[in-house]
Formats: sequence, structure tokens, C-alpha cells
Amino acid sequence: MGRIGILTGGGDCPGLNAVIRAVVRTAVGYHGDVVLGFRNGWRGVLDAAATELTPEGTRGILHRGGTILGTSRIDPFREAGGVEAVGDALALLRLDGLIVVGGEGTLAAAVRVAEAGVNVVGIPKSIDNDIAGTDATFGFDTAVQIATDAIDRLHSTAESHHRVMVVETMGRHTGWIALSAGIAGGADVILIPEEPFDVDAVGHHLKSRYASGHPFSIAVVAEGAMPKEGTMPAPVYEPDAFGRPRLGGIGAVVAREIEARTGFETRVTILGHVQRGGSPTAHDRVLATRFGVAAADLAAGGRWGRMVALRGDDVTSVPLDADAVRVRPVPPRLAELAEIFFG
Ligand code: F6P
Repeated sequence: MGRIGILTGGGDCPGLNAVIRAVVRTAVGYHGDVVLGFRNGWRGVLDAAATELTPEGTRGILHRGGTILGTSRIDPFREAGGVEAVGDALALLRLDGLIVVGGEGTLAAAVRVAEAGVNVVGIPKSIDNDIAGTDATFGFDTAVQIATDAIDRLHSTAESHHRVMVVETMGRHTGWIALSAGIAGGADVILIPEEPFDVDAVGHHLKSRYASGHPFSIAVVAEGAMPKEGTMPAPVYEPDAFGRPRLGGIGAVVAREIEARTGFETRVTILGHVQRGGSPTAHDRVLATRFGVAAADLAAGGRWGRMVALRGDDVTSVPLDADAVRVRPVPPRLAELAEIFFG
């Protein structure tokens, strides 16, 4: 019987409530642990702001989007005295350790907190699906479904008006959402951050499609996609509160450049945070539940310093280290799959 803290940090994603519910049910109901939930990611740990989570209190949340704990992009290493404050909060609340549910930023902080001597188990989450230590993250399947639904809807209006529809998806470092939704939705062009694009080649491709009797097109662009140097002006982004470029808007630039090169009427749709909201798919609920059960088991067994992970069809765990939490790009063999449909 131990005492465990849990936080959800970084951008929210569908499945966070499913993972919280699974951790609480397993830790409290099966292992007899006490679970405290920290408010708003690392912010709650720095403030030692936590409340007890019970199976009763976490009923009815499995299907709900967002996170009942709240989240933030606070990094304890960017706050004065942050690391000491994490240790102090755990001591004050008599916690044996912390389950950290996060994407690459939150988990990178978890790695450093663990290196500073705190007991941590990591759970990877992200709509971006871009964490190296796991084959998949929950939230991704829901985001891909939302983006695919949007592409399906844009198809009919593109066809009616003989337009090029540019769809901008999320995907800061990687093109997992753009590629998957683009393939599922039958897009004609898919542009991802892993492969700088040449807008002239895009224009040629669209013109040849029109010439062969298909006078409409869908182009999917991940928000982090960048043009090849010298091909068109690269977008300039303002930094956000954490010094990262605040992405969003590449779709509009690409749409303008396509229209200028082809003369085809072009419109842009930015899917943005719609991809992160609402109810998780069944797939994400199941993956989040499996991750939550595995994390609670690791904590109960004193197996700190691990991150739960999907490997093939199995949920397992890997060391929680810099390698596990680094960004996982789309492999070239998958990016090539998209090119079969592009040109
Ligand atoms: O990390 C997930 C993500 O949705 C990225 O795809 C996107 O760039 C970012 O979060 C947006 O962050 P925010 O919600 O802080 O604007």
C-alpha cells in the first residue's frame, strides 16, 4: 500500500480521463494505494496542490475529452527553485512517487526530475503520436478520425466548386496526423515537417490532375511543414510563452502560393484545436486504459524510472530516459507511401 501522485501536463488530448480512471481503479481498487491528483500539470506539483482521487470520484469520465485534473505547459526546470519544490511537495504529501502523463515536453521534464532522485513513472500521450519510446500514443487515433472526417466533408465542396482545398492539421515536429488522415481521406498532396516541400512541384501535380479531368484537389499540410529553401517565403512565427514558435498558418501561405502558380481557386481550412477536443475513439479509450493499468502496476511494484509503452500489440515498459521521450519522426517508408498518391 503506497501513496502515488498523478499529473497530466502539456497539450490536452482525448483519452486523458480514461488514463486517470484506469490508474485510480488499479492503484486504489487493486493495490490498495492512495492516489493524489495534482492540478494543472507541473504547476500543481510546484504549488503542492493535490486532491485525493477515488474510484467513486472518477466514475463517468471514461468517454469525456480533456482532463479532469487540468493541464499546463509549466516546466519545473524553467521555474526558480522548481526541482526542489517538486521534491518538497512529494515529501509534504508523503508520496512515494509520481505518475506523469505527458507529451515530449512534460516527459522530458519527468526524465530530469527522475535524474534528480524523484520516483517517476511516465505515461506517453499526444495527438501528435511522436514519442520515440512507444509505437503509439493515445489521442492520435481520435485526432486522425476528426481530420479524416473534415477531409471527407471538404471533398464534396471541393468537387462542386472545382477548387483546391488546403487542410492544415496539427503536428509540430512530425506529420503523423497529416499523413494518416491524408491517406485515409484520399488527399492528393500531403506535406509534412519531415520532408521540406517544393511548392512548384505541388503546382505541377495539381495542374496535371486538372488536365486529366479531375478539376478539384485536397492538399493536407501539417502545421510544422516547411518549404525547401529558396522555393517560397518561409512562414515566420512569434514565440509562445515557452519560447516555442506558435505554429499555425502555413496552410494559408501554401494556399496563396498554389493559387498564384496554378490559377486554381483555392481555400484553406485550419483544423487547429478541434483535433484535440471531444470524446476519445474506442481505440484511444482502450490504449489509455491499458497504459493506466500498466503504470499503476509499475508504481505498486516499486518499478520507478520506467515509461509505459506499446510495442506491437503489447503494453510493456521502457526506461524513462532521453531516448524514450525524444521525437519520433514519420519513417521515410511511410512518407513514400504518401508520395505514391502525389505525382
Ligand atoms: O503537442 C500537441 C499539440 O497539439 C501540437 O500539435 C501543437 O503544435 C501544440 O500542441 C499546440 O499547443 P497549444 O495548445 O499550446 O497552442
